[in-house]
Amino acid sequence: MESSTVLVTQNKVNMTFLKVKQNAMSLGLIAFLISSFSLSANAADIAAGKAKAEALCNACHGPNGNSQSPDIPALAGMPPLSISNTLYYYREGNRKNPIMTPIAAGLSNAEMKDVAAYYASQAREVTHTTKPENVEVGAKLAQQYNCTQCHGPNLLGLQHIPRVAGQNHDYLLTQLKGFKAMTRADMDGNMSSAVSAIKLEDLVLIGDYVAGLKSQ
Ligand code: HEC
Ligand code: HEC
Repeated sequence: MESSTVLVTQNKVNMTFLKVKQNAMSLGLIAFLISSFSLSANAADIAAGKAKAEALCNACHGPNGNSQSPDIPALAGMPPLSISNTLYYYREGNRKNPIMTPIAAGLSNAEMKDVAAYYASQAREVTHTTKPENVEVGAKLAQQYNCTQCHGPNLLGLQHIPRVAGQNHDYLLTQLKGFKAMTRADMDGNMSSAVSAIKLEDLVLIGDYVAGLKSQ
C-alpha cells in the first residue's frame, strides 16, 4: 500500500474511535492509540509476538490462544486493538486482575501490539455446544439487546470491541454478570448499560448462545 493511503485509512480509523470514546479516554490512552497507528511506529511484528506469547502467555491462554481453561479467556481471533487496549488497561490499572496486572506491567507498548497481532491472526477453536433450545432465542436476544450492533453481526468483534463469539463459556458468563453488577471494568460504560435491563436468566441464555458460536 502507498504510505499516503495507509495514513488516510489510519486517520479515519483513529477519528472514528476517538469520536466514540472521547469522553472516557485518558490522554495516555490517546497517545497509545496514536502510536498504534502512527507510521513512525514499527508495524506489529507477529513473529516477535508469537515468541513472547509462547514464552509468557500460552501456558494459560492455551495453544495459539485457544484457552483450555473455562475461566481463562481465549485470545485467538480477537481484533488486535481489543487485545492491545486491554493489556494497556491492565498495565495502567483501569482494569484490575491479580494475574494479568503484573503480567501487563512487564510489557512495552510495542510488545502489546506484537502479541495482539499474533493472537488476532490465529483461528479460534470453539468447544462449547449451545443447548439446542437456546440457538434461535439466543440469536433473537442478541439482536434485541444490540449485542450484534457493537460486537459485529457475527459477534467477532470490531476494532477495540472484543470478539465474544466462541469465547469460553464460564469466562464469558462471569464477565456478563460482572458488567451487570458493575464489578467488571467497563471503559465507556457501554456494557453495563447494555446488560442492565437483561434478566439474569436471559443473560445465562445469551451466554450459552454466544459461547457456542463457531463463525470465524
Ligand atoms: C497465569 C495465567 C495467565 C498468564 C500467564 C497470562 N494470562 Fe492473560 N489472562 C489470565 C486470566 C485469568 C484472565 C482473565 C482476567 C480477568 O478476569 O480480568 C486473563 C485475561 C487476559 C486478557 C483479557 C482478555 C479479554 O477477553 O478481555 C488479555 C488480552 C490477556 N490476558 C493477555 C495475556 C498476554 C498477552 C499474556 C502474556 C504476556 C498473558 N495474558 C498471560 C491468565 C493469564
Ligand atoms: C454499545 C456497545 C455495546 C453493546 C450494545 C454490547 N457490547 Fe459488549 N462490549 C462492548 C465494549 C466496548 C466492550 C469492552 C469493555 C471493556 O473491556 O471495557 C464489551 C465487552 C463485552 C464482553 C467482555 C468480553 C471479554 O473478552 O472480556 C462481553 C462478554 C460482551 N461485551 C458481551 C455482550 C453481549 C452478550 C451483548 C448484548 C447483550 C453486548 N456485549 C452488548 C460494547 C458493547
